[in-house]
Amino acid sequence: LDGKQSQKATRNISQKLEDVGKDVVVFWGSQSGTAEGFANRLARELPRRFGINAMAADLSDFDPETIALIPQTKFAIFIMSTYGEGDPTDNTTEFWTFLHRTSIISLEGLRYFAFGLGNKNYKYYNRVIDVVTEALDKFGAHALLPVGRADDSLGTTEEDFLEWKESVFATLATELNVEEENPVFVPTIKVVENDTLSIIDLNLGEPFQRAHGKKPAAVSSPVRPLPIKASRELATSPDRHCVHMELDLSTFPEIKYKTGDHVAVWPINPDSEVHRLIKILGLEQKQTVPVVLLPHVPGTKIQVPTPTTILALFQYYLEICAPVSRETVHYLAQFAPTPNAKKILSQLGKDKKAYSSLLLVQHINLGRLLEYSVADECANWEQLPLSFVIESLRTMQPRYYSISSSSIVQPRCLSLTAAVLDSYINSGNSIEIVPGLATNYILALKNSLSAGSAQLDTHPAGLTYPLSGPNDQLQSGKAYAHIRKSKFKLPVSTSSNIIMIAAGTGIAPFRGFLQERAWFKTMDQKIGNMLLFYGCRRPCEDYLYCDELDSLKETLGDNLSIITAFSRQEPNHKVYVQYRIRENAQQLCNMLVEGNTYLYICGSTNMARAVATEVGDGLKAKCNWGDSELRSWMESQKKRGTWQEDVWG
Ligand code: 2AM
Repeated sequence: LDGKQSQKATRNISQKLEDVGKDVVVFWGSQSGTAEGFANRLARELPRRFGINAMAADLSDFDPETIALIPQTKFAIFIMSTYGEGDPTDNTTEFWTFLHRTSIISLEGLRYFAFGLGNKNYKYYNRVIDVVTEALDKFGAHALLPVGRADDSLGTTEEDFLEWKESVFATLATELNVEEENPVFVPTIKVVENDTLSIIDLNLGEPFQRAHGKKPAAVSSPVRPLPIKASRELATSPDRHCVHMELDLSTFPEIKYKTGDHVAVWPINPDSEVHRLIKILGLEQKQTVPVVLLPHVPGTKIQVPTPTTILALFQYYLEICAPVSRETVHYLAQFAPTPNAKKILSQLGKDKKAYSSLLLVQHINLGRLLEYSVADECANWEQLPLSFVIESLRTMQPRYYSISSSSIVQPRCLSLTAAVLDSYINSGNSIEIVPGLATNYILALKNSLSAGSAQLDTHPAGLTYPLSGPNDQLQSGKAYAHIRKSKFKLPVSTSSNIIMIAAGTGIAPFRGFLQERAWFKTMDQKIGNMLLFYGCRRPCEDYLYCDELDSLKETLGDNLSIITAFSRQEPNHKVYVQYRIRENAQQLCNMLVEGNTYLYICGSTNMARAVATEVGDGLKAKCNWGDSELRSWMESQKKRGTWQEDVWG
């Protein structure tokens, strides 16, 4: 991240706090930007509300052992997400390893607060914050409050955070003997127009990849504009799209992938939302003026590329389509252009219930919220400081997809499989589409390739994307992307048996697995048995890659059995993969108990849980096990990597 700025930066957090005159450091461990956003908000709010100087810090920007040097007069706050199967986020890896390896650190002087972001649908709910705080306590650190936790399965992450934050503020105010001040917005960054910059100086769409820690390549490849070699529609229903896309790696030797890895795609915001925000902010005349972003408060790290333009910030670098936090609504009220808008926003900002009810019936993002607040008035929000807009929005994050090709079969071309994800809001009078950001962008890329033009109605909502400038990705047929390593891997030996369980686009990594096994078979290698359980709606609608699966079956012969579960083929009778597992429990459990068999699940967390229950029941019956025997068997399978999951949602 902004390599030039951070090259000389100290990696000693205690030194840094001293240099920039801060009393609180808010460390974040974030994968999709939520924990990072919370840390930034906390660090900005502490000075506003209590006059306490605070800074947010990427955990990977500092040497972990230097937390021991933070003096007793200061405080550390840890906001950390649990990712995947109870794993730390990329930027937490170094800190995590340090806490596990060290045995001689004393943290007697460290006073801290901790908040974890997790999802109860996953087995290891909030494991990261639990492991981290246990280690901190073991080394003598002093927790000022019990650990706070957010549960995303309930969709309450934001409100869980707000509740915990208030208790942190109350404790800090007592510890430091300070009173709450009237919260006013104090910008932490400056946005300076600079007409002398030329277009080649500006960041106009190149993604802003962070290098986490000293060895970023350990987890992620660099981001590159990968040419789209081919793309096609996989589903046949008119209202659901599923895109297969092939990205060409042949000119980027620095990008390597392995079967089962993830590809991260950097999306672009659709024109409609970009222009909505520009218009309501009254920025039409200024949108392409070069701007430089500078820290206004020492210790502030600029989170987006600079120099750039307002248009590029809204198109490429900020998540302008995401819902606005209630806290932002509260702060916005002070800049309201009319008394009525002020009243609307103040009320919504205060009232948790009213705001969540509004989100249920209206599609709200920043531009739409500003419009809503002045809906009946002839007013715009041109007085809203741009620094507020930039600080309130999260930075654009890539979206991850399981790679659906084999790196052995096609090392220089990878494919991804993305279902277009839209959600719907029923406002009473009409149904509004909330288009999924990255999947609609992938669909538009596909359409631009097949039609030679990007300005297509790719979607019922009619999304279009920027079509000019140096980063005209749609016309040039490229997508910015990088690879992220995953642990979801085929057994080393091709003769090991594999059981693959997928629903929907969960088929993606298994397409790669099967391609690879078929290739080894044609090389006369000994191939283990393979069972594929695959669930979709109907054979004629979303049985993804069915032709390819047929020909893979031909190549692999008796080595492969495909067992399908069609959920919508018969009215009132849903057949899911777990149901098929129950039917085939004997064969499946025999394979698992005999050994040399790896089990893989890819799809939604709900599906994975139901599958695990079904397999567990089968094993209990077969082996005469109780719950505890089953639990220890599962744990040892997971440790050995013979039970692997790639799940989401
Ligand atoms: P449904 O939409 O008809 O309920 C891919 O989305 C497939 O996974 C669909 O057939 C879908 O069925 C099915 N599916 C949805 N929820 C599931 C669950 N909890 N377990 C297994 N399959 C599920």
